[in-house]
Amino acid sequence: MEKLLAGKVAVVTGSGRGIGAAIARRLAQFGAKVVLTDINGEGIKALEKELVEAGSEAKSMLFDVADFTHIPEQVNQMNALFGRIDIWVNNAGITESAPIENITVQQWDRMQDIDLKSVFFCSQAVFKIMKEQQYGRLVHISSMAGERGGRGSSASYSAAKAGVINLAKSFALNGGQYNITSNAVCPGRTLTEMAKDLSWLTDPKDDPKLTIPLQRFGTPEDIADAVLFLASDLSSYITGAVLDVNGGLYMR
Ligand SMILES: NC(=O)c1ccc[n+]([C@@H]2O[C@H](COP(=O)([O-])OP(=O)(O)OC[C@H]3O[C@@H](n4cnc5c(N)ncnc54)[C@H](O)[C@@H]3O)[C@@H](O)[C@H]2O)c1
Repeated sequence: MEKLLAGKVAVVTGSGRGIGAAIARRLAQFGAKVVLTDINGEGIKALEKELVEAGSEAKSMLFDVADFTHIPEQVNQMNALFGRIDIWVNNAGITESAPIENITVQQWDRMQDIDLKSVFFCSQAVFKIMKEQQYGRLVHISSMAGERGGRGSSASYSAAKAGVINLAKSFALNGGQYNITSNAVCPGRTLTEMAKDLSWLTDPKDDPKLTIPLQRFGTPEDIADAVLFLASDLSSYITGAVLDVNGGLYMR
């Protein structure tokens, strides 16, 4: 049986570890050629080796999503690696847990640059390529915090992630006529390195058995499965959607 993503080329930002690495593994497992990008060169190099040894086609490239002036040129370089880009996953991001009274202008700006502005300028650059191809799947990793506001994670983070949901809709509205879909995934509490900075991991009040209907924290693979669906043609008639992957912790 042909694999779901056979012949497709996917770029995943921030795929050096965590959710991004799990997404890249899942897309490769289902037949996509993957371009691994991150500011963490070691992580993407190791994953490239792992995927190639497992029989997939993978290439890695250093890429800072907040290096705005170089994004168009670097996205064109990624396009040249396998000759097209069918799937683009905006996953790279940072978080912080600064209390609402203490967030500085610098912290605010850094958060918006890396978690929001990057999503717009990366999507804009790849949109041009997808428009020419008359095919594209944009998947944006937002957050449960983007839907309900931030407490454990900062208000600057939740505001950026709310912006990501809105951008998913703008690209959906403008991309539909070119067969480009654009959807957001909102992870809940997911066990990665990022989570180590957040209070829910250790606070007994946040025990998942008491707070999460599915009684456990999420794994990177839980998020990757949702991305696989939205990156594939199983979701051809879904665009501008927001898919919650949070074990039922937050229901809209
Ligand atoms: N872990 C969670 O509980 C959780 C919940 C909701 C949403 N998310 C979102 O999921 C995404 C992945 O998070 P994670 O938990 O895997 O985090 P992580 O910190 O484990 O991984 C993030 C990756 O992004 C990379 N990165 C950071 N800044 C970058 C930049 N400027 N350019 C390129 N790459 C950069 C890092 O090097 C790292 O490899 C993020 O957008 C995050 O906001 C995570």
